[in-house]
Amino acid sequence: MLVTGKEILAHADKNKYAVGAFNMNNMEIIQAIAGAAQETQSPVIMQASQGAIKYAGIEYIAAMGKLVASKIDVPVVLHLDHGTDFEEIMACIRHGFSSVMIDASKYPLDKNIELTKEIVKIAHSVGVSVEAEIGKIGGTEDNISVDDAEATYTDPEEARIFVEETGVDSLAVAVGTAHGVYKGVPKLDFDRIEKINALVSVPLVLHGSSGVDYPSLEKAISKGIAKINIDTDIRAAFSGAVNAFTRENPNELDPRKILGPARQAMTEVIKEKMEVFGSCHQAWK
Ligand code: G3H
Ligand code: ZN
Repeated sequence: MLVTGKEILAHADKNKYAVGAFNMNNMEIIQAIAGAAQETQSPVIMQASQGAIKYAGIEYIAAMGKLVASKIDVPVVLHLDHGTDFEEIMACIRHGFSSVMIDASKYPLDKNIELTKEIVKIAHSVGVSVEAEIGKIGGTEDNISVDDAEATYTDPEEARIFVEETGVDSLAVAVGTAHGVYKGVPKLDFDRIEKINALVSVPLVLHGSSGVDYPSLEKAISKGIAKINIDTDIRAAFSGAVNAFTRENPNELDPRKILGPARQAMTEVIKEKMEVFGSCHQAWK
């Protein structure tokens, strides 16, 4: 069943777990997310970046996302990840997404508030939830690149003002994670998560969560993180399995034989994350 971001994160917040938000880039990934959610009975967020939408086409992404939501008996959110373009966000709303992210984090606070407010007004008028970001998360995701010098942690007081003024439903925070593959070992600022959570009334979102050790993710959830974004670890499972298969079977031509093991490998990775996030058996009817 298709639900809003607000609804799914309120349930996670109340029941002290985090919903996994997994990036979908092709059919095999979508099936892996759906299979893992169904098997573990986990509420799930299926999210597409603007890059994924450009690659697959919005009609395909929206249709497959909605199909999953109607096919599996767990709550599913169809979400736009890191929306930076007004027209793109509107297109997702028109195509039936139940949640969108407006990422205006590269702008100064005032401008971020102004742009976010505009999206909140439109999205809320048609029952769609909104995630926004404050602070700058390092690393690279599709066309968004933030180098180490530019990355800035979220200021708790600014976060409070931002949420009060914009009316967003969830807030992505910069607390030590980064997008893509980590160069060193990620270190999360748990005190900062706790402070932001004490000042802010909406659930908090952790981006760049691939490659973060599991005890840290569990601790982050206990401090107030309710949505955890995973993309890179799914990509690694996909390419690892495809590379291994083609090395062993260099003459195989059938895409189903090449991609089948990759789909299975991604399903296993996603199930493992769901266990860590505490979302298994949290699905409600
Ligand atoms: O928005 C998507 C996630 O933040 C991806 O993070 O690169 O660590 O998987 P990741
Ligand atoms: Zn992200």
